[in-house]
Amino acid sequence: MPLKRLKSPPAQSPFAPIWEIPLGIEKLSDAETLAGIRKIVLAREPELKQEIKAKPIAGIDDGLTSRWHSFNTFTWNEPPMRQFQEFVRKSYLGYLSALNISRRKCYVQGWANVVRGGGKFAPHCHDQSPYAFVSGNLTVACEDTQTIYYPPYLYRGAPSPKMQVPIQNEPGLLTLFPSTIMHETSPHNGDSERITLAFDIFLQDFDLGGRPGADGMHIVMDDPAGFTGTHVGRAGTVTSGTPLSLND
Ligand SMILES: [Fe+2]
Repeated sequence: MPLKRLKSPPAQSPFAPIWEIPLGIEKLSDAETLAGIRKIVLAREPELKQEIKAKPIAGIDDGLTSRWHSFNTFTWNEPPMRQFQEFVRKSYLGYLSALNISRRKCYVQGWANVVRGGGKFAPHCHDQSPYAFVSGNLTVACEDTQTIYYPPYLYRGAPSPKMQVPIQNEPGLLTLFPSTIMHETSPHNGDSERITLAFDIFLQDFDLGGRPGADGMHIVMDDPAGFTGTHVGRAGTVTSGTPLSLND
């Protein structure tokens, strides 16, 4: 997998911050799949909004993003969603391989974001616990927006604009990143919906609120000791696993 490494400038002092953040970048170049995902997300949006209580997050008070805690796009079984899940799984394995990191049992939970005129995500990160692992997002539809990543240091209590690393959003672009790092988006000023699928990969089957398996929603993403099932079943349940190899 192609990596983009965000690196601190050469330290001129023994106390200067030193950091290196690997972003994994892949492209899902299948317009039909992306169109299918867009349709599915927009069709499911009203029901999810009605069923799930919003918890404001990253500057978003309403919409699917603020319902991230109670649905999992890795349980959606429509063919375009299965293609998305397989693409993420392969990309995740490629990311580990490129970084020479061993596979381990992990879980995934994903949600959809639909942003309309003027909306944006405020700076946030997904996990800074000792178990922080990998997060990612796939741009499904967008106009002229960027996702902006920052090093793990704050200046005057906020990410420093001088240190930002913007990535231009484009349909099909998947970015994998350490869950610890701060990121935000530029405002979406287009007329159409900006749609992304985001996800967290966990090493432990509990979420940041301490709920086991987020009420049973987490899906096994990878289990090097056995099999994986990325698109069906509940946490810890593998109902249609296939053996994994880094070449599949
Ligand atoms: Fe995020």
